[in-house]
Amino acid sequence: MQWRMKDLVTNPFRFGALALDESFTDREGERKGLVSDIRNGQDVVLYAPRRLGKSSLVWNAAQVAAADGILVAQVDLMTTPTKERLAAALATTIFEQIASPLERVKETALAPFRRLQVQPTVTVEDDGSYAFSFQFGRGASDIDATLERLFRLPGELAGARGRRAALVMDEFQQVVEIDLGLPNLMRSVFQQQPEIAHVYLGSRRHVMESIFSDRNEPFWRSAKTIELGPIEPAAFAPFLVRRFDATGKSVSARAVAAVLDRTSGHPYATQELCYFLWERTPGGAEAGEDQVLPALDDVLRSEHAHFSLLWEDCSTNQKLVLEALAQEEGRPFSVEFRRRFGLGPATNVQRALRTLERREIVAGERGLYRIVEPFLADWLRGRR
Ligand SMILES: Nc1ncnc2c1ncn2[C@@H]1O[C@H](COP(=O)(O)OP(=O)(O)OP(=O)(O)O)[C@@H](O)[C@H]1O
Ligand SMILES: [Mg+2]
Repeated sequence: MQWRMKDLVTNPFRFGALALDESFTDREGERKGLVSDIRNGQDVVLYAPRRLGKSSLVWNAAQVAAADGILVAQVDLMTTPTKERLAAALATTIFEQIASPLERVKETALAPFRRLQVQPTVTVEDDGSYAFSFQFGRGASDIDATLERLFRLPGELAGARGRRAALVMDEFQQVVEIDLGLPNLMRSVFQQQPEIAHVYLGSRRHVMESIFSDRNEPFWRSAKTIELGPIEPAAFAPFLVRRFDATGKSVSARAVAAVLDRTSGHPYATQELCYFLWERTPGGAEAGEDQVLPALDDVLRSEHAHFSLLWEDCSTNQKLVLEALAQEEGRPFSVEFRRRFGLGPATNVQRALRTLERREIVAGERGLYRIVEPFLADWLRGRR
């Protein structure tokens, strides 16, 4: 029977999907803070570079809040390229997460949506869930009026029943891509909803900053800002040990230290490297420090196509800057850095960096830049 048991054991590390339940670790302080903010109706901006765990953190906080009876609707603006699609996604989540829990009868829960300026088409999917879609005519005013009504709904529905509600908007930096007038429209509604917590998640620092920190923008200083960093290695380590142990394998303290030294506690990178380290470890055995570099090679092999595409999309100047930053984080504008890595005029470097930042491959703060795409620096160093 033993071979059967062994076959059933699956890799306990996950990268890419949301980290929920036992895949989620640490972030205690951040999660507690977020739950309080949601409960208090405090608006929050959660900023972090890609794949640092924003969505996972907010999902976990939303689960805790939901267990407290708070109704949390969520939209991902990455999946709503137009106002029509945004209206559909909003209607769906407000119906599922707010209206339905408040009404026992689905028809009653649907009533507020029937009163919208433009009526949605509602289809019931095979799994019993409801999907909304909108067909707007030519007039932009119809869409705007409908969106405005939808943004008001969470507060009205929850308020009428003495319940609290929150609206989470993931990938919020996309708001300016959907429509330049959208921030104004949202803000005009949201500022009249002090009891509703609006949670804005985003990865593109400049865009998020321009939305929330520019005094000419409608969202100026409207929310509390939280910047998410990597997970403290000391907090991450016990999680890695536990995950190995739970599958009948183990990992040495030195291997854990070597992994976290590589990833600096970047959540996605750590789970990815551990995924391959676990794969390399036979059932019942211990993963040792000597297996960390081979596991890193596995990561680089599996990411090769992705990095190659990313690389092909870079101009010569961008490639030079990336190669330099793969050697060391630094100040690419400084004469010294440019001379050492043969980078050419500062204006070229600046243009290259602007594009790399927009593509979320590098991040910079006060002139100091580093590669944020996990393992790209390792891959670039390996190519030399
Ligand atoms: N608290 C955590 N504990 C363990 N692993 C985590 C945690 N948070 C995130 N991760 C890991 O990081 C990966 C990315 O997490 P998540 O999608 O939440 O990040 P994100 O910041 O929303 O990324 P994106 O910018 O791409 O939307 C997860 O798939 C998981 O492997
Ligand atoms: Mg996310």
